[in-house]
Amino acid sequence: MNIKKAVIPVAGWGTRSLPATKNVPKEMLPIFRKPIVQYIVEEGIDAGLTDVVFVTNQNKTIIEDHFDRNFLLEQLLARAGKADMLEEVRRVANMVNVIAVRQKEQLGLGHAVLTAKEICKNEPFAVMLGDDLMFGRDTGIGELIKAAEATGKAVVGVIEVPEEKVSKYGVIAGEELPDGSYKVTSLVEKPAIEDAPSNLAIIGRYVLLPEIFDILEGQKAGVGGEIQLTDALQGLADQDKLIAVKLGGQRFDAGDWVEYLTANIYFALHDEELRDELIQRLKELLPCSE
Ligand code: UTP
Repeated sequence: MNIKKAVIPVAGWGTRSLPATKNVPKEMLPIFRKPIVQYIVEEGIDAGLTDVVFVTNQNKTIIEDHFDRNFLLEQLLARAGKADMLEEVRRVANMVNVIAVRQKEQLGLGHAVLTAKEICKNEPFAVMLGDDLMFGRDTGIGELIKAAEATGKAVVGVIEVPEEKVSKYGVIAGEELPDGSYKVTSLVEKPAIEDAPSNLAIIGRYVLLPEIFDILEGQKAGVGGEIQLTDALQGLADQDKLIAVKLGGQRFDAGDWVEYLTANIYFALHDEELRDELIQRLKELLPCSE
């Protein structure tokens, strides 16, 4: 199995992140020094992916622009003698091949993936959500690609979540296999706590085969009136064609403000230049009841 493309859906409206996202795409909000989507693209590149398919909309063209050359900026940096920054700006522009497809109406994640059909219909591909961040060793899309290559099946990434949070996620039921992955038997999108089949929640990392497009084409709207990818994956699970891999490391849902802010602090605390001063400032702020 040769997986080269990552479909990154970025066409959503980011309503949880308003008003910040009124005119700036959520995926372009910065976490520490980089926009969110750059972390996701870099995770894909680290896993050997070479092409990114952004599922985008008319307000999101700056996402594509971020991965393109900006000659005026490069000239300015060269004139100013800012060689390191010039190198960094060029590195970002050259890191990946960009393909963009328009999702003309935001009908849900399943519909966003279906929008990439013409680009991905002949090969297996990764899906990485544009607001879901994974960090750490042996985690993220690379682990799912290994599992897909070993089994020839589609793969979803899952994490264990506390029971009270299951209703925010798609949740799987599965049988644990000897290697620690799961044969998925069923999936439920945003279940009530009492209906959740487990505490294994689907996060924004998948490896899919082109057969998913046939299922998505017949998929009716589900929870929230949206065409849900989770519902389409049930079609694969019914044919024993879906496994789940539990991912470790740090994961941040950048569409949630607490997670977004924590991710910023996480990176700043790992930066030698900023760490000590940041800790000092945070100490001054606590307790903030004063
Ligand atoms: P989310 O539900 O987290 O993002 O979808 P959203 O819809 O932008 O945000 P809220 O919930 O209103 O705050 C996960 C990812 O899927 C994309 C989003 O851009 C996001 O990166 N998405 C979602 C699409 O591309 N199209 C859709 O129809 C829905």
